[in-house]
Amino acid sequence: MQKICMMGTGYVGLVSGACFAHLGHSVICVDKDADRIAGLKRGIMPIYEKDLKEIVDAALGKNSICFTTDPGEGVKKAGVIFITVGTPADKTTGDPDLSHVFAVAEEIADHMDEEYKVIVLKSTVPIGTAEMVENIIKTRNHYARFSVVSNPEFLREGFAVSDFLNPDRIVVGTGDDQSFLIMEELYRPLTEQGYILMRTDVTTANMIKYASNSFLAMKIMFINELADMCEKAGSNVTDVARGIGLDTRIGEKFLNPGPGFGGSCFPKDTLALERMAKKVGSPLKLVETVIAENNARRYKMLSKISEAFNNKLHNKSLAILGITFKAETDDMRDSPSIGILSELNLMGVKLHIYDPQGKKHGPEFFPYAVFYDSAREALKGADAAIILTEWSEFRELTAHDFKTLLKSPLVVDLRNMYRLEDMEGINYHSVGRKTVTISQENAD
Ligand SMILES: NC(=O)c1ccc[n+]([C@@H]2O[C@H](COP(=O)([O-])OP(=O)(O)OC[C@H]3O[C@@H](n4cnc5c(N)ncnc54)[C@H](O)[C@@H]3O)[C@@H](O)[C@H]2O)c1
Repeated sequence: MQKICMMGTGYVGLVSGACFAHLGHSVICVDKDADRIAGLKRGIMPIYEKDLKEIVDAALGKNSICFTTDPGEGVKKAGVIFITVGTPADKTTGDPDLSHVFAVAEEIADHMDEEYKVIVLKSTVPIGTAEMVENIIKTRNHYARFSVVSNPEFLREGFAVSDFLNPDRIVVGTGDDQSFLIMEELYRPLTEQGYILMRTDVTTANMIKYASNSFLAMKIMFINELADMCEKAGSNVTDVARGIGLDTRIGEKFLNPGPGFGGSCFPKDTLALERMAKKVGSPLKLVETVIAENNARRYKMLSKISEAFNNKLHNKSLAILGITFKAETDDMRDSPSIGILSELNLMGVKLHIYDPQGKKHGPEFFPYAVFYDSAREALKGADAAIILTEWSEFRELTAHDFKTLLKSPLVVDLRNMYRLEDMEGINYHSVGRKTVTISQENAD
């Protein structure tokens, strides 16, 4: 059992802290957000994540996790200190904003004594950050004995607990054996089950994280472009994706066409890798194209919606199903819905929104919209429906529901939720597949 401190109790800090407690370690979660910490002490989760409350409650019950706003408490008691604060893209340069990482490094330095500690960068950070953190600590605290290690996190929001406890791989980047042995011990409950822990150097560990997210983003954009081509060529992208995905060298995941990638990671991580590549004098043209095409994707989707209405959107009322950047999360960061819906609002469209988790943050982003408690309520009386997020409960809606609830049976589905044959009888526009239209004899 090791004593661990998580500096930052957000998606990554809270999930990994709770999972480490679940694996038998003693965890102190620190956050500067006093409301978040007060809520967690009472068992209130600040994020929606499957199984999270259960493992936090169990850890609280065993006293293996505690929450505090005091960095000193965490740093002094723990032998392994994880930095798990956000690293969003800087709005002007596009580089990762490392101010939270550096602020935490200063706090760690100010509370360290002479006891050896491992400081672990779990936040996604560019190459060179570990050295900067090391310098900050050394400059502020001449007695501190420590190693800075990179241990990037690969969990997916929506499946974060399961991903942490069943990782495809654990990557540990370090230049010294002392810290590696401690990291190995920390993850032993997982490696004993056969999960792979890979050792590399700090810079390579950083690269693995950025390369991994950029590759997945590239896969998404590949199928999106292919979907556009399928529409023109008269082929079906769902079958193309399945046909190529069954090749084990390609794999079926991340081949669902849609409105482009969003969320707190892919947009900023592709941008960061592109910036790093330029800085070291080896530009990544593929990644540059992925970023540009993803930015353009939202406007393409807007044109698709507009064309479905013969470019007459003014004063239409639209039922919007889904606003989070993907299903199974309440995260709105960089969601494609933000750009698409704000443009629709400017075009004079009335928005009737339903998202199973969107009511919490949605009104901040779309103050002009009306929010509903179910898909059916949002659909009732609207002119048409737009599907933006692939929540599985939307699959239960049928062509009959759309026909009876909407004023006109028109659905623009940007997530390909339904089989084309099941949407006979309505006007159904999806991505990379033929448009289903009402035959004239049924069009009354
Ligand atoms: N969200 C994901 O799915 C995911 C997955 C893998 C990696 N990551 C990476 O992990 C890092 C964290 O991401 P996140 O989504 O958990 O961020 P987040 O915004 O959800 O959480 C960050 C937390 O850090 C806290 N914080 C900021 N400054 C602090 C300070 N000085 N002291 C204490 N707490 C402080 C904030 O209050 C916040 O609660 C990022 O680098 C991200 O790229 C995220």
